[in-house]
Amino acid sequence: QPRIFSGIQPSGGLTLGNYLGALKRFVEKQEEGIETIYCLVDMHAITVWQDPAKLRQQTREGAAAFIAAGIDPKRSILFNQSQVSAHAELAWIFNCVARMGWMSRMTQWKDKTAGKNAEAASLGLFAYPALMAADILAYHATMVPVGEDQKQHLELTRDIAIKFNNDYGVDFFPVVEPLIEGAATRVMSLRDGTRKMSKSDPSDQSRINLTDDAETIAAKIRKAKTDPDPLPATVEGLKDRPEARNLVNIYSALSGQSVEAVISEFAGAQFGTFKPRLVDLAVAALSPITNEMNRLMADPAEIDRILGDGADRADAIARPILEQVYDITGMIRSR
Ligand code: TYM
Repeated sequence: QPRIFSGIQPSGGLTLGNYLGALKRFVEKQEEGIETIYCLVDMHAITVWQDPAKLRQQTREGAAAFIAAGIDPKRSILFNQSQVSAHAELAWIFNCVARMGWMSRMTQWKDKTAGKNAEAASLGLFAYPALMAADILAYHATMVPVGEDQKQHLELTRDIAIKFNNDYGVDFFPVVEPLIEGAATRVMSLRDGTRKMSKSDPSDQSRINLTDDAETIAAKIRKAKTDPDPLPATVEGLKDRPEARNLVNIYSALSGQSVEAVISEFAGAQFGTFKPRLVDLAVAALSPITNEMNRLMADPAEIDRILGDGADRADAIARPILEQVYDITGMIRSR
């Protein structure tokens, strides 16, 4: 039967991109009644330096965002990666299955080391996708909702599953299916329509954070880069207008209307008309989440309790799968 796994790095505060591309869809999957396992991948976060106190805070804040967005920690499993050791253990096995060449071809690795000394990057950053494959396959998850930027990592997860099965002559790991759906699979920066909105962008103006208040959201959208033309009359007309297309996509994802419907409503409108409507929509969608996050963050012990409970339930699924992996690979288990 289907099982969903997905994760978010607590390497910074979550953005509108994470919300529309991931979190909002995680909630939809939970509501569809599919078994859902969601993880704050703290071990992925430390592939680049993280201040320990901030990492702890960001992990709790990430958990609060999941719950505030509608993840019910009773119906879904919600935990942080490092509390379930199966992730690290299976990642080691996958480090021995995956090839150096596969990892070198990952665009995220290439982007993160572009123009820098790759020799100074952590070994963990290079091996990152093997840990991601372990996250998913430790649960025999079959469906993984993600944004567009994770597509290549999921293809690699499939390659690892296939190679493991071939090398050991078993039909053990399932071939996972990426779920990259909706109008906001790639939300772009508010400052540059050709770059992804990212928690690690040095400019805070480039993104909307889930912790931003209404005034901040309004100011950021008002200042968002656009071209001087009014909105086009057809979807085709957005083709060479990355900033306009991005704002329309965000509007579509927030309102649940199709891009076509948004375009037909705003055909010929100036951004001076469109942007205030987008602000209203964004504030209406995000402010209840921000408020609920703030409420939850007042009780960090309760968040930690939820993560611990989730980790217990995650471990109960992953541990027997990992024991089978040890058996398949010829590791003696005698205690
Ligand atoms: P991360 O933490 O960068 O992002 C979390 C999720 O948010 C999506 N996302 C976006 N979607 C649309 N527009 C954007 N601008 C945008 N930015 C981020 C991402 O695609 C992702 O779905 N490697 C993963 C975390 C991970 C994972 C996993 C995911 C670790 N193990 C196992 C799925 C399954 C990452 O860095 O996501």
